[in-house]
Amino acid sequence: MKTISTIKEIQNVIKEIKSTKKKIGFVPTMGFLHDGHLSLMEQASRENDCVIVSIFVNPLQFGQNEDFDSYPRDIERDQFLAEKAGVHYLFVPSVTEMYPSKPSIEVKAKDRVDVLCGKSRPGHFDGVVTILTKLFHIIQPDRAYFGKKDAQQVAVVEGLINDLHFPVTLVPVPTIRETDGLAKSSRNVKLSDKERNQAPRIYHSLLQAKSMIKKGERSVGKIISVIKNDILENTDGNIDYVEILSYPELKKLNELKGTIIVAVAVHFVNARLIDNITLELN
Ligand code: PAJ
Repeated sequence: MKTISTIKEIQNVIKEIKSTKKKIGFVPTMGFLHDGHLSLMEQASRENDCVIVSIFVNPLQFGQNEDFDSYPRDIERDQFLAEKAGVHYLFVPSVTEMYPSKPSIEVKAKDRVDVLCGKSRPGHFDGVVTILTKLFHIIQPDRAYFGKKDAQQVAVVEGLINDLHFPVTLVPVPTIRETDGLAKSSRNVKLSDKERNQAPRIYHSLLQAKSMIKKGERSVGKIISVIKNDILENTDGNIDYVEILSYPELKKLNELKGTIIVAVAVHFVNARLIDNITLELN
C-alpha cells in the first residue's frame, strides 16, 4: 500500500490505473479507522481491481461549535489497518491541499436535508457533497462505498451522483456493531466509561421499535415516544432527534408503509452518536 498526500501524485496514479482498464473502488473516510470502515474496504477489495481510501477530516462539514479540532486522528494506525484490509492507495491530503484558498464554488445539498442530521447540523451536507465532488473528480472511481450507519448521507450522495452525472455506482454497506449492539464509530472513544455502558441503549431502543412495528403498531407518535423513553430512562444522553421517515426519500409519513427509516441522534458530553434501522413494510 502506498500513502499519497498530493492531488497531483494521486492523479498520476489514477491515470496509470485507468490506462490498464482496472476498476477502482473508493472508500472516502475521515480516518481513525474501525471495523465499520474496514468492512467497506474489504467489500471494495472483493469487488474491484484497485482500492483507494481517502482520509480527510473535512472542515467544511463541521459546524462552528462542533468537534473538528478534537476529532480523533491516528494516521499510523490507520495505515496499518488499511493495508491489512487490502487497500492499494491511501490518499491523505492536508486541508490546504484540498482547500488551497477560500472556495470559489461550493456544492449545496437541497433535497433530503431538512430532517435528521441535516436539520440539526445546518450546512453539514453541503460540506459533505462539496468534498465528495472534489474527491470523485480526483479519484474517478467506478464504485464508491458508504455505510448505512449514515443513512441520510447515503441518500444525499445518491442525489449528488444522479444530479451531477458522476459515472459512479454507490454501494451501501450494512452497519457494523460492537457485540453489545453499539454502532462502531470513530467518536465512541470520546464516551466516558459510564456513557459507553449506556450507549448500546440507542440500538436497543431501535430494536424495541422494530418489534413494536412487527407486532402491528402503526402510530408514529407512540413508537417515537417508546424510543425516547428508553433512551432517557437508561442513559445520561440528550436526545437530538428521533424520527421515522420514508427511505430513501426522507419524507414525513402519514401512514407507515413501504421502506421506512427509524433514526436516532443522541448527545453525550463529548460525542454525538447516531444510529438507524430501515424496515420494509407492506
Ligand atoms: P466517516 O465518518 O469516517 O465514515 C466513512 C464511511 O464509513 C462512511 O460511509 C460511513 O457511513 C462508514 N461507517 C462509519 N461507521 C460505520 C459502521 N459502524 N458500519 C458501517 N459503515 C460505517 O462519513 C464520513 O466519514 C464523511 O462524511 C465522508 C463521507 C468521508 C466525507 O467527508
